[in-house]
Amino acid sequence: MHNRKLNYFLLTLIAAIAVIFFATRSLVAQDAGQPWMNPKLSAEERADLVLKQLTLDEKIAFAHGNGMSRVPNWQMPLTSLANGGAGYVEGVNRLGIPGLVISDAAYGVRDSGANGRYGTAMPSNLGAASSWDLESACEFGEVIGRELRAQGFNMTLGGGVNITREPRNGRTFEYAGEDPLLAGTFVGSRMKCEQAQHVVGDLKHYAVNDQETGRLVISSVISKRAMQESDLLAFHIALSIANPGAVMCSYNRINGDHGCENSYTLRDVLKNDWKFKGFVISDWGGTHSTEKASAAGLDQEQPMADYFGPKLKAAVEAGKVPLSEIDDHARRVLYAEFLSGIVDDPPQKNVVDVDKGLEVAQRIEEKSIVLLKNVEAVLPILPSKVHSIAIIGGHADVGMISGAGSAQVDPPGGNAIMPPGKGATRWGEPVWFPTSPLKALRAKLPNTKIDFDPGTDLKSAVGLAKSSDLAIVFAHQWEIEGLDLPSLSLPDNQDALIEQVATANSRTIVVLETGTAVTMPWLDKVAGVVEAWYGGSAGHKALANVLVGDVNPSGKLAMTFPKSEKDLPRPVIPPEPPKDQASNFSVHYDEGPKVGYKWYETEHKRPLFAFGFGLSYTSYGYSGLSVDSTARTAKFTVKNTGKRAGTEIAEVYARLPKGADESFKRLVGWTRVTLAPGESKTVTVTIDPRVLQTFDEATDRWNFAPGDYEVFVGASSDNTPLAASLRVR
Ligand code: BGC
Repeated sequence: MHNRKLNYFLLTLIAAIAVIFFATRSLVAQDAGQPWMNPKLSAEERADLVLKQLTLDEKIAFAHGNGMSRVPNWQMPLTSLANGGAGYVEGVNRLGIPGLVISDAAYGVRDSGANGRYGTAMPSNLGAASSWDLESACEFGEVIGRELRAQGFNMTLGGGVNITREPRNGRTFEYAGEDPLLAGTFVGSRMKCEQAQHVVGDLKHYAVNDQETGRLVISSVISKRAMQESDLLAFHIALSIANPGAVMCSYNRINGDHGCENSYTLRDVLKNDWKFKGFVISDWGGTHSTEKASAAGLDQEQPMADYFGPKLKAAVEAGKVPLSEIDDHARRVLYAEFLSGIVDDPPQKNVVDVDKGLEVAQRIEEKSIVLLKNVEAVLPILPSKVHSIAIIGGHADVGMISGAGSAQVDPPGGNAIMPPGKGATRWGEPVWFPTSPLKALRAKLPNTKIDFDPGTDLKSAVGLAKSSDLAIVFAHQWEIEGLDLPSLSLPDNQDALIEQVATANSRTIVVLETGTAVTMPWLDKVAGVVEAWYGGSAGHKALANVLVGDVNPSGKLAMTFPKSEKDLPRPVIPPEPPKDQASNFSVHYDEGPKVGYKWYETEHKRPLFAFGFGLSYTSYGYSGLSVDSTARTAKFTVKNTGKRAGTEIAEVYARLPKGADESFKRLVGWTRVTLAPGESKTVTVTIDPRVLQTFDEATDRWNFAPGDYEVFVGASSDNTPLAASLRVR
């Protein structure tokens, strides 16, 4: 008790000192003629006050990067100030404006290993989105924001919200699935909480950057209406929630013009229609011009100063770029700095709270894992019935795989499949975290015989499976930025391994560690399938909890798993053409807004697993839907009809009125309902009006088609037992 009081006293004292310190600092600064240091003013007011003080050189300095750590071709005099990160933008010391110290942080802080630091890996973004849980999204962002600051960074490059139009896209694991509402809401919630830690937030890659093949040259050809109702909608929703300081424009071209000099997406939509006040930062090496890009709305070139350094200054001096444009670029960077809090509360290098990060990573993964198949309740594993388990393949004895590219987070101790001391992570090499499912399961089931076979010799794997009560095959599919998957098949002969093990033991479970959908030619033969995604720093513990039933799975797919690539809008991704033909390389998104489940429904193709699908160890019933057309809400009851407590994600879809020129269901809302066995709850879901409307190209406006909208409620996009109608006048 005595100690508690003392701790409380000390904490209060520290807090009081901190308040006095910051208040005095800001008072001193204001007294010293720096009125922008007054935190009571708005970010806009503060940015305007600073802007008036800036020289042209200082303004231009905000418009470009200063190189990138560790990339030989991207070195500049100030690169060392990037703190080992992706970039550095010079601040204005004399005015108390800090530079931007920027790090990649898709699912955790990048390059921690190379910098001799530690960063937590959250589950992959696609995995986390499968939780449909906005508290998880927030915690995901909070951990990353805190760790960025502890490492000395004040800006993140996270927040990938490109929708899954092309499931073979090598960056699918970095994004939040195929639906604009789910992806936009999830990523927006994550970035809101990340920026609240006082780092400049970022959403990327704007826009229609939906495949990696030819990403620097390809043109995404798509109608304005289609892009507004799909890819752009995801960004708009995320933006309206997060209010991020920055948006990164993408490498690809959109209807001919590069993402970073596209006046439609940047100026007309992002800045004019959506009133985005932060700055547009180019993807690394994604700037292609000075005057055109500046006029189109690019505010900052990264990571070099090829177009927005001396050339931009010369263009201003020659009257080719108006000074007002430069002012706008600089004001936006200043606004982002004040908005995010990095001026008032700069990062202090610190030791990362490892335990907190691991705890959050585990909790999120537990909510992200999707149970896809569970015949005769083969899961959860009951030690009273299962005395021996064969764990096969996937390096499950040492760890779990992670997503690569600029998103890569470095595991403690290095790559778990490399010999000790040789574990540095290198671009292009799959990285396993030291999160061994074998060890985690043994810890959970101390009295069960659990053996491992690497799965490299089919005979030996089959032998172990035959002699065990249960076989669990760990299968993986690795993804990396810059490279699309050749197909959705599991690589390295893993389909054959699963097939043979399942033939030897009918109680075979497949655990998938994948960055996107996979095809499953063996599906009918196995008893269970668990999608664990890329599990992050505590993936093994989360997975073991699900396998033994300490956690009842609740995740649902944030993307459709097709039966075959033949069912995709584009069965084949054409290869990138030679350089001299690159300007003709394009992908025609003729499916328009019909992305994912909308496509399968319209085309009458049954997927392997539908968007929104996921099983539980209990069962749920739905009843009593009523729709309030004025309040735009759907009210219904969910009942836990099984014997275990669980959380059900209840999904609400709507179909436009009969007269409208579109026939597919759209996700319009959802809720997570936690229920004890036998318990019922009546819930109300608000229908988001943005996803009920259509975009009219002629007037550039969103409209409600008048009439009766069918509203559906259920457990997945292909299982909506309740229906009612919503009238829009
Ligand atoms: C990626 C971005 C990343 C940047 C900086 C680019 O290659 O597309 O997502 O933020 O590099 O590393």
